[in-house]
Amino acid sequence: MSKNVLVILSHPYLSTSNTHLAITDKLAKTDGVTVRHIDQLSRNGVHFDPKEEQKLWEQADSIILEFPLYWYHSPASLKQYLDDILTEDWAYQNAYKLEGKNLQVLTTTGGIEELYSAKGEHGFSLSEILTPYKAIASFTKMKYLPELAIYAANFLKPEELEVQITQVCDSVKNLTA
Ligand SMILES: Cc1cc2nc3c(=O)[nH]c(=O)nc-3n(C[C@H](O)[C@H](O)[C@H](O)COP(=O)(O)O)c2cc1C
Repeated sequence: MSKNVLVILSHPYLSTSNTHLAITDKLAKTDGVTVRHIDQLSRNGVHFDPKEEQKLWEQADSIILEFPLYWYHSPASLKQYLDDILTEDWAYQNAYKLEGKNLQVLTTTGGIEELYSAKGEHGFSLSEILTPYKAIASFTKMKYLPELAIYAANFLKPEELEVQITQVCDSVKNLTA
């Protein structure tokens, strides 16, 4: 039976995106993959409806957090979303509803890969920068999969970008097998 992949997209400026529009367009047409653009969800004040989101997470085998890297974080909407959804009575304590599911980050950067190192301009690898997601996976008993990244996304030639988008989408598709 095919597995379910839930892609949680956080991108406040999606209509201007070179990469994420193309990625989510492809993924939305992939069997077993559901894309949820959280900046378009209704909210109660600043809050997302945790029960509705938690139901979707429970139905998924893998959850992908997709976002452009903004100041070495996700855009703010993803932080708020996770704060609302990963509640004590559901994600941890005696519940652990996500136990055994995969968690993976799919991100794009403006910076080139070589500068994401201890000696590079950014001072840390992207994998190190994404440590909070590894900690979330660990704390909630999820399995953290190595991140999918497209570096220097807005500086790639269209044909280079296309190759990388295809690779990233193929990796996500593999999770449905
Ligand atoms: C507010 C803001 C902050 C950003 N911070 C970073 C950053 O910390 N590191 C980086 O490599 N790129 C940074 N960028 C560049 C974006 O990551 C890059 O434009 C994006 O990943 C490309 O995807 P897009 O086609 O959806 O814009 C930033 C861009 C914006 C608008």
